[in-house]
Amino acid sequence: MRRKIFLAGNWKMNHGPKAAAEFMAACRASWEAKLSPQTRSRVDDGSVQLALFTPDVSLTSAREAVQPLPIRIGAQNVHWEKSGAFTGEISIPMCEELGIRSALAGHSERRQYFGETDETVRKRTLALVEAGFTVFLCVGETLQEREAGRTEEVLRAQLSAIFQDKNTQLSQALIAEEGRLIIAYEPVWAIGTGKTATPEIAQAAHSQIRQFLGSLLGPTAGPQAAIVYGGSVTPANFKGLLDQPDIDGGLVGGASLKPESWLELVEIAGKSITG
Ligand code: PGA
Repeated sequence: MRRKIFLAGNWKMNHGPKAAAEFMAACRASWEAKLSPQTRSRVDDGSVQLALFTPDVSLTSAREAVQPLPIRIGAQNVHWEKSGAFTGEISIPMCEELGIRSALAGHSERRQYFGETDETVRKRTLALVEAGFTVFLCVGETLQEREAGRTEEVLRAQLSAIFQDKNTQLSQALIAEEGRLIIAYEPVWAIGTGKTATPEIAQAAHSQIRQFLGSLLGPTAGPQAAIVYGGSVTPANFKGLLDQPDIDGGLVGGASLKPESWLELVEIAGKSITG
């Protein structure tokens, strides 16, 4: 039987509080009609784990409106300090006050447009792990890096900045508890471009990531890590990606914005659990 599947939607700067509530209402209304009994039970028993990362202003509305569906609501970016002079940022205690316990860290758009570095990604991820959050840590190479044959080197650098040695809390979180710290492999050239990595390209990168985690953290780390793919995932290509042995799910931008395509993705995830 395959391991768990993690499916997360990243709404980016889309869906304010009203649209978020409408999205959740539509999901609730068609949950039974659009999802097979098998998928619903996979979601209920936790073998398919669902999350939606909304804009900060929509967290409360999304969280209230999603009830009673088992979809975690999370933040897209959280600072490592508890409070202070950090204009435009939000903190972990603020999220906790809203009942939010999941977050993204190191999304390529944060790295590209907002000066996020491996070091700040490490600080954010560590603070989130220490607070007991579920974290999707994003890594991935740019087109230029891929074309220069540097994909493996870039992934290694991004991951070793985070998992510096096997005794750190971050490394332990990755190895010890499935689904606490999830790695999202998101090739930058595939994000929002409609150019999905082929299942073979994604599989090769996921397998490299597992090998690298194994060499860095010990033999159990590679197979144990949950690694999802992100970059133009749609209902048309998701199954092909999930059929790959090292792909444990998806982090989805555009196709998570409409309830219909989000539920199609959930159904594909539910069906792909065998055994
Ligand atoms: P996309 O975004 O699915 O729209 O390409 C993925 C992401 O940025 O997480």
